[in-house]
Amino acid sequence: MIRGSGMYVPPGIVTNDMLSRIMDTSDEWIVPRTGIRERRYVDPAQGSSTLGVLAAQAALENAGLTAKDIDFVIFATMTPDHYFPGNGGLLATALGMETTHALDIRMQCAGFLSGLQTADAFIRSGTYDRILLVGADVHSSLMPWPESVWDVLLGRTEGPCDPGWYAKATGMRDRAVLFGDAGGALVLEANDSGDGRGFLGFRMYTDGAHWQKLYVPGGGSANRPYMTGEMQDNLDTVPIVEGRQVFRLATQLMPAAVRDVLESAGATLDEVDLVLMHQANLRINEAVQKVLELPDERVFNNIQKYGNTTSATLPLVYDEARRAGRIQPGNLVCFTALGAGLHWGAALARV
Ligand code: UT7
Repeated sequence: MIRGSGMYVPPGIVTNDMLSRIMDTSDEWIVPRTGIRERRYVDPAQGSSTLGVLAAQAALENAGLTAKDIDFVIFATMTPDHYFPGNGGLLATALGMETTHALDIRMQCAGFLSGLQTADAFIRSGTYDRILLVGADVHSSLMPWPESVWDVLLGRTEGPCDPGWYAKATGMRDRAVLFGDAGGALVLEANDSGDGRGFLGFRMYTDGAHWQKLYVPGGGSANRPYMTGEMQDNLDTVPIVEGRQVFRLATQLMPAAVRDVLESAGATLDEVDLVLMHQANLRINEAVQKVLELPDERVFNNIQKYGNTTSATLPLVYDEARRAGRIQPGNLVCFTALGAGLHWGAALARV
């Protein structure tokens, strides 16, 4: 069962108007198509493990526990601090854990959902009683422009932006406006009380045939050497997103996964108190809501404030919904996500 939740977003707010200082975009274009009004970016050199640590501390506090009470760590991210080692060990040592094992998950926007399934399986098997599941991503590190362009974006210098970088940033504007930096965490534990709280089922899917719809071409062992200056110059380190196809797949596959997990658990949609979706685009989530015929009070979105934070979206919506009083003990909550891989699925929990 979910014992506690927490989140951390860096204080630096970047509005759509601020982005329009360095690329040809506007609030008028971004809001109707994505719902995103602003996102947070970290200060330079603050990696995703740090956001994860701060979110984990908030989740532990909410659970009334300390790091010493945790048996196992799972860290989901697509933007780890380093190519290796993964963030799990960095987080464990930052929290003062000396004997805890840590697992890293690389499944992008579906990473946290997969982490929930992994944590639940470990708890059910009796391997671990208490698991800290963290999702954090720093997408601002994927933005290829130099500090002089950041200065214009953040208003530290007046501008105008260097024309060459303005043209390059405009070439990636469909992606640049979508993402934000954040960390979220849940503390999960075994529940032998018989009160029915806990995960009731998962339905998880992968279709690798769609891998080229969402991926980063530069960097990785499919290249020798795995990273070159040329890749940077050609912006091959920026994710490729076939946005319209991802939009179409997400609006079909997430509602189907929700129905599948409900059927597998012998529950109906009417019984679900809240559906929490990955936050890739508010318009995707509105379409899913419509397909499932859910009233507004049974969904919760916060992409408007944070953008798409990849592996942090589900703990972010969970934590904010809980603090807003939208999740009460005993509620039936359904989680769903879809991301690069493609990986997607749904989970059902009595919280
Ligand atoms: O979770 C993984 C990533 N998330 C997603 O992929 C979310 C799903 N994708 C989407 O929601 C949509 O694809 C976007 C909202 C990202 C983009 O909308 P779109 O309608 O698919 O835009 P597009 O890339 O096909 O571009 C349409 C037009 C183009 O102009 P022209 O060539 O028709 O003149 C783009 O250059 O809109 C232009 N455009 C923009 N204009 C201003 C694309 N992005 C922007 C922008 N500002 N940020």
